[in-house]
Amino acid sequence: MVRQSNTPADVPVEPRNREHSLGPALAGDWFDNHPFKTAWFNAMSITFPLGEKFFIDSVRHFADRIDDPKLTDDIRGFCGQEGFHRREHQHYNETLCQQRGYDLALMEGRLEANIKRSKKFFSPMQQLAITASLEHITAILAESALDESNPMRNEADPLMLALWQWHAAEEMEHKSVAFDVYRAMGGTEKMRKRAMRQSTLFLMIDVMAGVVHMLRRDGQLWNLRLWGQGWKFLFGRNGGILRSVWPAYKEYYKDGFHPWDRDTRPLLASWKENDQQLLTA
Ligand SMILES: [Fe+2]
Ligand SMILES: [Fe+2]
Repeated sequence: MVRQSNTPADVPVEPRNREHSLGPALAGDWFDNHPFKTAWFNAMSITFPLGEKFFIDSVRHFADRIDDPKLTDDIRGFCGQEGFHRREHQHYNETLCQQRGYDLALMEGRLEANIKRSKKFFSPMQQLAITASLEHITAILAESALDESNPMRNEADPLMLALWQWHAAEEMEHKSVAFDVYRAMGGTEKMRKRAMRQSTLFLMIDVMAGVVHMLRRDGQLWNLRLWGQGWKFLFGRNGGILRSVWPAYKEYYKDGFHPWDRDTRPLLASWKENDQQLLTA
């Protein structure tokens, strides 16, 4: 039997069935009282239920062709985790849009059309390559969310922080599952890199479209000072969240790259420790 799973043996891909009640936090600007920072994370959340369904489908498509029982187990854990993320973010998105007057159908409609097009025009292998690349983006954002220096720790509502960190930790646990399936199925390096370029573009456009919709409804769309602050939040030299993940992002374009080349187990361990304290508090 060939080993196909490269998730370290001490990292179980373990679904945690958690329910978050976020109503009061979602009614306001829960991240630093800041409309842009809040809208950025809310817009990412909008993409999750449909996006994660696409991920599950694209991995499941190959599940019965996997020979390594460990990778089969990883896939089961991956589908379980993404399933709970979908449920929690669906609830998040509905509560958010209801309370703040955002149009969920409009935002999801655009994404749904993109996914439909991908399913029509891309082969199952290309869809899996797209999933692997988006999982890398999620994993490096998760790394930054779990890092001690992340401003979210002090600036976000504690219930929201708990949800985002739970999601981040599980993304980190399953970060190489889609990738390992892609490799096991003989996916090429060329297709993998091309999928990353395409996915990055589509994801950025989609999240920005969500931000624009939300800020428009908030009456903040033409607040240029806010956009200046938003730019700094994303790309600023001192801790811009996208700028800081850029080196990790670029690694994906190296030949022979694997997500666990970045050993992020210490971050997982410290999340588990803090999480345990919160749960028993
Ligand atoms: Fe997820
Ligand atoms: Fe994921």
